[in-house]
Amino acid sequence: MTVQSGRLVGRRIALGITGSIAAYKAVELLRLFQTEGADVRVLMTPSATAFIGPLTLETLSRHPVDVDVLALQADGRIGHISAANDVEAIVVAPATAHWLGSMAHGVAGDSITAACLATSVPVVVAPAMDGGMYAHPATQANVARLLEFGYRIVEPELGPLASGMVGRGRLAALPRIVDATVEALSGVAPAQAAAPALTSGPTRVDFAGRHVVVTAGGTIEPIDPVRFIGNRSTGKMGIAIAEEALDRGAAVTLILGNVNVDPPAGVHVARVETAAEMQAALRALTPPEGPAFDVLVMAAAVADFRPKAASDHKIGRGSGMKLELDATPDLLAEAVERVRAGIRASGAPRPILVGFAAETGSTDRAAEKLRAKGVDMLVANDVTEPGSGFGTDTNRVTIFYTDGAPEQLPMLSKREVAELLLDRILIRLDSRETDPGAAAEEAPTATTEATT
Ligand code: CTP
Repeated sequence: MTVQSGRLVGRRIALGITGSIAAYKAVELLRLFQTEGADVRVLMTPSATAFIGPLTLETLSRHPVDVDVLALQADGRIGHISAANDVEAIVVAPATAHWLGSMAHGVAGDSITAACLATSVPVVVAPAMDGGMYAHPATQANVARLLEFGYRIVEPELGPLASGMVGRGRLAALPRIVDATVEALSGVAPAQAAAPALTSGPTRVDFAGRHVVVTAGGTIEPIDPVRFIGNRSTGKMGIAIAEEALDRGAAVTLILGNVNVDPPAGVHVARVETAAEMQAALRALTPPEGPAFDVLVMAAAVADFRPKAASDHKIGRGSGMKLELDATPDLLAEAVERVRAGIRASGAPRPILVGFAAETGSTDRAAEKLRAKGVDMLVANDVTEPGSGFGTDTNRVTIFYTDGAPEQLPMLSKREVAELLLDRILIRLDSRETDPGAAAEEAPTATTEATT
């Protein structure tokens, strides 16, 4: 059973998560709904938060998570009532025995039960619990009552349970829950949100007044006027970062190498071909009087080698060719050095510096690269993993930090990676601004000699 995509495009779904160990699976379920095109907001019971953090779901759903049945939203609306009015289906997964009991008896002690009581949209319930608990007549009576309400029950499966025992209580395979939701919504015409749409919150302009520099695409190093050495980078990741920063109010400079996608309108684009040209563009932004940006994201795939000498005429095919290559200078390490010198001289605030690392097989070398390059953050991915390589629209990255443990993100669209990356950058930018000590600090020390 596989999830197709696009069956829930534009549909607004509330995902209710209750306090079962299977709550961790709700993250994947949320992603599956999003893959189908749904806009998902999350409601949780307080006990669900013992198993999974609301921040994870808030970040992935891009909506505030409603945990407190008494809390008001930022816009003054009551969370569970606005969920009841705004969504087209409510999916409760996993649903505990306790929750089934509350719902069967209309005891609205949590946001999910309250939203279900207040709504007339289809409700899909996927129970998960110990096998004995599920088989108990009390639970079965509650399930029967929910069926009378017209709710769809996605029966739990037989298999190993958290207790170590085997029984019927495992949360249904996630694609079954998605299929049940698709079915529940089939024939139900898309409804206008009764209240403002879930996605129509104020656009974030949290990068207003900041200058973000992004390098993107590959550099190409000429062999002669016809041929060059290049790499497979398409620039999609870097361009997604530039777009996201622009949408969030930043002034954006994009130093753009060889790419397959158009840069967004509204960013300042500096086109470059070679590593030397990219180096010149970066030097112009890191003058001795201090860096001209708040954030540098080096997403470009700089060619590591270039021909020792490029011919100024086309080399004939004749008897073959022997290429002698030099390593290119490390542009990022040099930019970090120049930033450090600039802030030492000027006392300018320290920008946030971010590198990328495309690795093959594992990201084990990334922690060392973070240190060697002298950046605050290094975003590493394994380009041999399906969906995570050059030219794809998705990426699975691990972010390495100088000030924290590495963070592994799930497979996301490149735009989503860009959004989460900028969130993390913003936290560091803000703390740099609110903590004068941090502002005076130098950039982390690069141990790699900058080559010029
Ligand atoms: N980078 C750079 N200049 C280079 C090579 C890489 O500025 N000549 C930057 C990239 O833009 C990226 C980071 O350094 O942000 C890491 O690039 P990567 O190719 O992973 O590392 P390298 O330093 O080239 O190391 P290796 O070839 O050993 O993987």
